Amino acid sequence: MITSDLSIAVNALNQGELVAIPTETVYGLAGSAFNEQAIQKIFQLKNRPTCNPLILHTHCISEVSKFVKEIPPNAMKLAEAFWPGPLTLLLPKKSNIPNSVTSGSHLVAVRIPNHAVTLSLLQQLDFPLVAPSANPYTRISPTNAKMVDDYFGEALPVILEGDICAKGIESTIVGFHDNIPVIYRQGAISVDAIEFIAGKSKVQATIKEKVTTPGMSPMHYAPMTKFCIVDSVLDFIYENRDLKIGALTLGKLEINQPNTSVIHLSINGDIEEASANLYKSMYDLDGMNLDCIIIEKFPEIGIGKSLNDRIQRASFK
Ligand code: TXA
Ligand code: MG
Repeated sequence: MITSDLSIAVNALNQGELVAIPTETVYGLAGSAFNEQAIQKIFQLKNRPTCNPLILHTHCISEVSKFVKEIPPNAMKLAEAFWPGPLTLLLPKKSNIPNSVTSGSHLVAVRIPNHAVTLSLLQQLDFPLVAPSANPYTRISPTNAKMVDDYFGEALPVILEGDICAKGIESTIVGFHDNIPVIYRQGAISVDAIEFIAGKSKVQATIKEKVTTPGMSPMHYAPMTKFCIVDSVLDFIYENRDLKIGALTLGKLEINQPNTSVIHLSINGDIEEASANLYKSMYDLDGMNLDCIIIEKFPEIGIGKSLNDRIQRASFK
């Protein structure tokens, strides 16, 4: 059921049920961090390996300190700059956080989401929520309630309706080695913005390097349709006129080709708008029975780097 009634969500979570929650990045599949059965239900419903830990969501920094042993100075600077917002910090966990949440790691991933509905939900609960993205393992993360409903149907009784996920890609995950920020997942906050606040960082996880955080398998965020990064969308369409093609473009592109469906991620070429529209557009094209979906790389600046990380994973074979 898709509902905007917070009390239904509060009751379900208090009873150990799962609820899909809107955030500014993507929808999360949430359950109580202190209820072992709810934690296990999350892994089962997503079909996610239990070695892939979950992010803890709460509503203010003073709550975070109930769950972590320490917050290094640079972590605190980032928290003050970006929370509530699309920043996840890896911090040493206190013993009240179950090992099943962190898959046995001594670090817990924590974030304060910037979404009015979910902040208000978190304030009404006596426990933090663990919430991975609300998609079956390796599929495209959902950025609206309907996508979540399509994925899980009646297996997920409560989906909390919220405004559109304004950022549209997952949070940036930052850990710390001796107070130096280490980027474990590029995301909705650019590496440049992190470095502006906390100084030079190391970027750990890229598709070419070894997988450094359990969830960063190269194949991720993938449509069922073949997904290709091309040098030129126009040339590809011209050279493959016999194929049914879905094209995602940054900026407006006039294409009069009967076999081709084009989605403009942002008519004005705005990268933030493109980010907000990317997953939904991939998902919509995926439902059109096409031979392939194509996209050009984004400019390698700001969150363009994060978007390129996602489309590389989506095109991984
Ligand atoms: O924007 C987001 O972060 C969304 C919304 C719902 O908050 N959540 C999300 O969760 O993207 P998920 O589970 O799809 O991705 C979490 C990533 C995974 O790659 C996981 O391996 C990593 O965070 N992670 C979680 N806890 C960790 C830990 N203790 N150590 C290392 N990596 C961790
Ligand atoms: Mg995910």
